[in-house]
Amino acid sequence: MATPPSGNFLTGDQIRQTFLSFYEAKAHKRLPSASLVPEDTTVLLTIAGMLQFKPIFLGQRKAEVDRATTSQKCIRTNDIENVGRTARHHTFFEMLGNFSFGDYFKKEAIAWAWELSTQVLKLPVERLVVSVFETDDEAYDIWKNDIGVRETHIRRMGEADNFWASGPTGPCGPCSEIYYDFHPERGDQDIDLEDDSRFIEFYNLVFMQYNRDAEGKLTPLANQNIDTGMGLERMAQILQGKPNNYETDLIFPIIEAASKISGLHYEQASEAQKTSYKVIGDHVRAVSHLIADGVVASNLGRGYICGG
Ligand code: SER
Repeated sequence: MATPPSGNFLTGDQIRQTFLSFYEAKAHKRLPSASLVPEDTTVLLTIAGMLQFKPIFLGQRKAEVDRATTSQKCIRTNDIENVGRTARHHTFFEMLGNFSFGDYFKKEAIAWAWELSTQVLKLPVERLVVSVFETDDEAYDIWKNDIGVRETHIRRMGEADNFWASGPTGPCGPCSEIYYDFHPERGDQDIDLEDDSRFIEFYNLVFMQYNRDAEGKLTPLANQNIDTGMGLERMAQILQGKPNNYETDLIFPIIEAASKISGLHYEQASEAQKTSYKVIGDHVRAVSHLIADGVVASNLGRGYICGG
């Protein structure tokens, strides 16, 4: 699938800086990424940008600031079988995020995500489609009336796609996602956001307003919060006009180094060999960052992920 370059061409580093600076200018404090080894004992690894803020969302810790922005290193192993086989699945990735701790809510989060996407990153408006949780009329109306998105380009989706939680229990809420359309020529009639040959979800805005207990009961949190995630590698794929995340400047140098060692150039490799190169690109990043955060390969827990 050839991807036409769209928006501003930016390197991975420039995308990260652009995101963080944009939110700094909106009074967010730029905070460092937390370690991949979380303080939270309910997960083995840092799986999302919100994890370091979970105690704040739950009201267990007081926020030192009302607004924060981060580029969080994350590892998720649930997609490991897809790594290298699809254009966009990884174990290690960076999640860019803007967070509100009981400060702004849906209206601002949506308006800023749109401003950043269309005016700063310069993604063409006609290539963007948004989703909202099926019963979230408030978010639907903001997209339609405040932002002016056409109704063909606002999709209502169910709990599996548009209700986000960091795990079976804990802070959660409805979300709204922004998708990029690689094939707008396929028309507005048949928009299926599950079709990943056409769409890529690049920005998730979570309206973090509930706590879910072990029985599955939702209790409103004391504050309404915002938790967002923009996939750095996905945005790099879009802005660098690459057919997959692996060929962006964030990962391709590792593939090039591997192909020098093996003597087989990536361009000359078969599809199966390219998949292997992509897996190397992904796993080298994951293992390097795990080791940098103090994980030692072993046959247990995090060590098993690092060594296995
Ligand atoms: N927590 C949400 C996610 O991981 C948004 O950051 O997608």
